[in-house]
Amino acid sequence: MAQKKIIAVVGATGAQGGGLVRAIMGDTGGEFTARALTRNPSSDKAKALAALGAEVVAADLDDPASLERAFAGAHGAFCLTNFWEHFSPEKEIAQATNMARAAKSAGVKHVIWSTLEDTRKWVPLDDDRMPTLMDKYKVPHLDAKGEADAVFEKEGVPTTWLLTSFYWDNFIHFGLGPQKGPDGKYAITFPMGDKKLPGIAAEDIGKCAYGIFQKGKDLIGKRVGIAGEHLTGAQMAAALSKAIGQEVRYNDVPPETYRGFDFPGADDMGNMFQFKRDFNDAFCGARKPDVARSLNPSLQSFEAWLGKNGSRIPLE
Ligand SMILES: NC(=O)c1ccc[n+]([C@@H]2O[C@H](COP(=O)([O-])OP(=O)(O)OC[C@H]3O[C@@H](n4cnc5c(N)ncnc54)[C@H](OP(=O)(O)O)[C@@H]3O)[C@@H](O)[C@H]2O)c1
Repeated sequence: MAQKKIIAVVGATGAQGGGLVRAIMGDTGGEFTARALTRNPSSDKAKALAALGAEVVAADLDDPASLERAFAGAHGAFCLTNFWEHFSPEKEIAQATNMARAAKSAGVKHVIWSTLEDTRKWVPLDDDRMPTLMDKYKVPHLDAKGEADAVFEKEGVPTTWLLTSFYWDNFIHFGLGPQKGPDGKYAITFPMGDKKLPGIAAEDIGKCAYGIFQKGKDLIGKRVGIAGEHLTGAQMAAALSKAIGQEVRYNDVPPETYRGFDFPGADDMGNMFQFKRDFNDAFCGARKPDVARSLNPSLQSFEAWLGKNGSRIPLE
């Protein structure tokens, strides 16, 4: 039997990379095998990946030599940064640079960079419709990823730029689920007006990434945007109500109100949702469910995702 081609997966113990490892290892007759990168190979999540047959290796995005070792001999690499661990756009750019250079030096043939828009192309820093944050960003966790797009190009790495969407899993894990208001009713809160939010089951991002590696050279040099569905706040609230059997309202607040909420990164998130609202055609147009389905035929709708995960949404 021909040797399987190795895909080195950054973020393998997390949402996006985990979905990719499970997609690769679940396709037992496929041409690829997964190498899961983690800072902690003895964690339960890393052990669960090893149990699927993935090779688990230690690597740290802040340690270029560890990345070079982890990428050595790999055909592909899935590259991702986790802004929410450190809240530093500069660190995201530095880590992306480390990955691009390691991929170049290892001769990786296909990199996927999990990215988002540099919103400053639409909202320059002197545009005061939203505040500038951290001196030189409008939406730090988007802008940094978008700025890092050029790093992969500069290093001459064969890259597909993957534009991801809002995870519906944020209703479970990210504190964005229905909250009880002073009226005792549940509501989800977004500053999106009646505009549509492209969303996706986090697990489907990895499955789409697997589809990109399978398509290979056709998608090198391309930007590929994915979403499961584009839904308004009111449509998400209606689907949530049906799934959890209790009324969930959509609480549309102005972005400035959202920016003032009391959680870390509320200003960044407020600017992000305002960007998605104010440039809705461009943002939705860059993320087509049809494209995602062509990469991942089992792509879930919000209703299907809720059918499997609705009971995991915490209700206080
Ligand atoms: N939530 C959303 O709706 C959404 C939508 C689009 C994009 N995103 C972006 O997704 C990114 C996070 O991805 P995720 O949700 O898949 O991650 P996650 O589930 O939060 O897990 C983080 C992953 O990153 C790895 N990691 C972090 N720092 C590392 C380092 N220094 N060296 C090696 N590995 C490191 C962790 O590995 P170990 O801990 O095992 O080392 C872990 O696997 C964020 O940058 C966010 O902006 C989120």
